[in-house]
Amino acid sequence: MSQQQANVFNDIIKSRHSVRGFQQQAVDNKLLTAIFTTAQQSPSNCNTQPWQVFVASGERTNNLRHQLSTAMMQGEMDMDFPFDGVYRDEYKLRQHEAAAQLYHAMGITREDKAKRGEAFMRNFAFFDAPHVAFLYLHQDFGIREAADLGMYAQSLMLSMQANGVGSCPMTALSFHADKVRAELDVPEQYKLLFGIAFGYEDPDHPANGCRVERAPLEQVVHFRD
Ligand SMILES: Cc1cc2nc3c(=O)[nH]c(=O)nc-3n(C[C@H](O)[C@H](O)[C@H](O)COP(=O)(O)O)c2cc1C
Repeated sequence: MSQQQANVFNDIIKSRHSVRGFQQQAVDNKLLTAIFTTAQQSPSNCNTQPWQVFVASGERTNNLRHQLSTAMMQGEMDMDFPFDGVYRDEYKLRQHEAAAQLYHAMGITREDKAKRGEAFMRNFAFFDAPHVAFLYLHQDFGIREAADLGMYAQSLMLSMQANGVGSCPMTALSFHADKVRAELDVPEQYKLLFGIAFGYEDPDHPANGCRVERAPLEQVVHFRD
């Protein structure tokens, strides 16, 4: 690989960010196939490739947008995997900072609970994205295969980014697994971990002005000679 290729790769990684405002224009089918074909190169335990991906487009996306928004407003929740991670200390701090930066980009103050609620509800409208990929694991799989699914997701988002397609990975898309299963005819043995909303970024949406920082290397990588 040349230095030039390495620079292109670095640019793709660095320019990817969570897109929270999309244009309506759909991604061409040929390009969709090419993007998902590249993501297939993701590594996995024993090359098991434990991901199952259901992609909603067109009316399916609109149906789901409506159903998930309604379910959320009615306080319904049906997740395949429990919400059991706990954020403390620096993790809690990073979570709060990310939220504060997003609301700041959108011009929403800490006190404005109504606007914050509206912004949160945009999750369930997929930030207007024309497509959503729902990422599933077989019910027999565990945490290792979930790591494989995470690697697949990053490959997929980078493949999108390299082709000018924006994305947002979303846990919120797993809050109503029953509705998604019914709409997309997903077999019972597959369990929904999260989704990725994707499409062409709306450069004028204020949420897309948000860029969150990363922790200094020494906080997370521990070199030992
Ligand atoms: C598995 C996963 C789930 C996420 N869920 C949501 C979500 O439900 N809603 C949302 O707006 N962002 C969600 N995010 C986006 C993160 O907030 C974002 O990746 C993080 O703040 C870093 O910002 P960046 O992606 O712009 O670099 C999720 C990210 C990941 C990896």
